[in-house]
Amino acid sequence: MNNDIERVLVSEKELDEIVSRIAGQISEDYCGKRLVLLCILKGAVVFMGDLMKKVSIPVEIDFMKVSSYGNATKSSGSVNIILDLHRKDLADTDILIVEDIIDSGKTLSYLVEYLKLKGARSVRTATMLDKPERREVDFKPDYCGKTIPDEFVVGYGLDFAEKYRALPYIGILKPEVYEKQ
Ligand code: IMP
Ligand code: MG
Repeated sequence: MNNDIERVLVSEKELDEIVSRIAGQISEDYCGKRLVLLCILKGAVVFMGDLMKKVSIPVEIDFMKVSSYGNATKSSGSVNIILDLHRKDLADTDILIVEDIIDSGKTLSYLVEYLKLKGARSVRTATMLDKPERREVDFKPDYCGKTIPDEFVVGYGLDFAEKYRALPYIGILKPEVYEKQ
């Protein structure tokens, strides 16, 4: 295990089971619809890759990038769109936003409203992790992998200062790693 990790919170095996469960639900719920999986870069990239392979109905993929934490472990509070979604067919499109983690809820509540205003036929959300204790705005994901306590986690796409994204599990970072920054 990586030296900066205090303990593993979600193992590779559990991640695989979670993705299978969510992919199964999505494949049923979106049968007959025009599903676009919208990955929120960069954190959701690993979840997205695993999820799209397990969804058994046709899917299209797209990407948006928004800013959140920068180098700290605290949210900046405002959502900036760095890479926007440019599609002319939104009125015929059922968007499922794929996110790594929900913390304050600001990113996803903003994005759902934004995509509806842009004219998407439907907008729902799937997140691998949820930290409900940290919520600042009322927001519930449609699909959730696992609810976790208020700990700063990395791996499976999630970073601290751009590090640890490639770890195949989700682990709790040792506090001394971010306290010394
Ligand atoms: P929200 O807008 O506060 O819900 O922020 C969600 C974003 O914060 C996620 O997409 C992550 O990029 C980041 N984030 C929140 N908690 C963590 C964490 O424990 N580790 C790494 N990134 C996190
Ligand atoms: Mg993110």
